Amino acid sequence: MPATPDTGTTAWWRTAAIYQIYLRSFADGDGDGVGDLAGLRSRLPYLRRLGVDALWLTPWYVSPMADAGYDVADYRDIDPVFGDLDQATAFLAEAHAHGLRVIIDLVPNHCSDRHPWFQAALADPAAPERDRFWFQPGRGEHGELPPNDWQGYFGGPAWTRTSHGDWYLHMFTPEQPDLNWESPAVRAEFEDILRFWFDLGVDGMRIDVAHGLTKKPGLPDVGPEPDPTDLPYQDTDGVHEIYRAWRRISDSYDGERVFVGEVWLPTPEQYIRYLRPDELHSAFNFDFLCGAFTAPALRKVIDETLAVHRTVDAPPTWVLSNHDTIRHVTRYGREDTTFSVSDRRHGAPSDPDLGLRRARAAALLTFALPGGVYVYQGDELGLPEVEDIPVDQLQDPTWPRSGFTDRGRDGCRVPLPWSADSPPFGFSADGAAQPWLPQPAGWKALTVEAQSADPDSTLSLYRAALALRRRFAALPGELVWLDADGLSAAEGVVAFRRGDLTCVVNLSARPVALPPGDLLLASGPIEDGRLPADTCAWLVGVTDN
Ligand code: NOJ
Repeated sequence: MPATPDTGTTAWWRTAAIYQIYLRSFADGDGDGVGDLAGLRSRLPYLRRLGVDALWLTPWYVSPMADAGYDVADYRDIDPVFGDLDQATAFLAEAHAHGLRVIIDLVPNHCSDRHPWFQAALADPAAPERDRFWFQPGRGEHGELPPNDWQGYFGGPAWTRTSHGDWYLHMFTPEQPDLNWESPAVRAEFEDILRFWFDLGVDGMRIDVAHGLTKKPGLPDVGPEPDPTDLPYQDTDGVHEIYRAWRRISDSYDGERVFVGEVWLPTPEQYIRYLRPDELHSAFNFDFLCGAFTAPALRKVIDETLAVHRTVDAPPTWVLSNHDTIRHVTRYGREDTTFSVSDRRHGAPSDPDLGLRRARAAALLTFALPGGVYVYQGDELGLPEVEDIPVDQLQDPTWPRSGFTDRGRDGCRVPLPWSADSPPFGFSADGAAQPWLPQPAGWKALTVEAQSADPDSTLSLYRAALALRRRFAALPGELVWLDADGLSAAEGVVAFRRGDLTCVVNLSARPVALPPGDLLLASGPIEDGRLPADTCAWLVGVTDN
């Protein structure tokens, strides 16, 4: 087994800075315009230098790519567009040698319609594989209506009719049939898949749609006015037993192997049940991601997050963006800084300078908070959402599934700019195919190369902040809230002390005097000892907890 990073049995995941690799957009090693393992391996020194502790890779499995790899046809092999199993094994060893742990993406709610199980089930209504999916007769005189009224997450009915006349459930695209977790074969298969990858040396699994695996018995209609806290296709009680079984497996391995859940649920009470001590280790904090970037909203969500995680002794996480959201540089430049999957507000006016100033402040805020933190690739470059991809180049199934009303998620998935003055900006070797999504010409100022040479760049800020953050792990998990220059959170300033670290974010309209302490780092220039609006500062040397 490849060597693991040197923290042995410490609970590294409680404080880790985890960098999300959206593999097809990170770095292209073979020149086909799509990111791959060869590209990623060549950029490991960059990630080490950035100062993160672990990598989370979006799905790398064999896939027809109907949903960018979240439609898996073979859970034990790598798609040729990304590489092969030997390269994955070499990558794990190299990442570990760089001190980086690796979390891969497990997709258990659904597979690809090309998965051999689904192919067998489609071919023969008597096949044993049928029980591993949700095949149901339709309603109506001739079964011509879907079995129930569920709508898919990307829009449109959650059912597709087969050539045999019955229907199958897919909460995402028709190419992603939902697995039936009542089937013992499904449970056994995924436990085996976990062992396969843990044996190969991965340090953890991000669980896709972790709230959705089990469904309410009888698959009842949601009805005309669904209660978002009680939907028949998510957060049903049976799901917790699955994670308890998985936790027993991860605990049987050495080196603190972990699960992080993609748990999108409306209330903290529902979400926190996934983090009980015998279930998942952590989950993404979507309440924080979706909230407004205002002082009162931040204070509230931080307090609620800390309180709810304390009840189960799980580490909170802080997430600003991922491959499904609008990049926060763009969100934070808008009048309304919140995010919602049901309305991404594509094209809403956004002030790029304001968005970037706030994004830099937000990075320092999240890095100062107790728990784990996620950096989505490109956050460290201050990349904005790309809002003008020509519609004929959009790849996300959200676009057709929404009846061409929602451009979807391609704007946050544009390949990274590494170097040079024009596309592909070092993403692929010069002269190679154009990247799978077009990069804006203006990104020449945002390349890794350009930003590495500038001490005031966003990349330089991230490098400095992540290096300093390493020692924050030893600080207390509790915050002492402060006023700064007479302003409280209600008046626009988020300020707290954690051990000897003071963190202050000014979201008020006026500059504020810095609290006592020695200035360690700031997200923008300090003017005459005052912190300008939309700026965050870290100070040390004063302690009161
Ligand atoms: C959540 C993933 O993050 C997203 O990209 C994907 O489309 C859905 N789950 C379905 O797998």
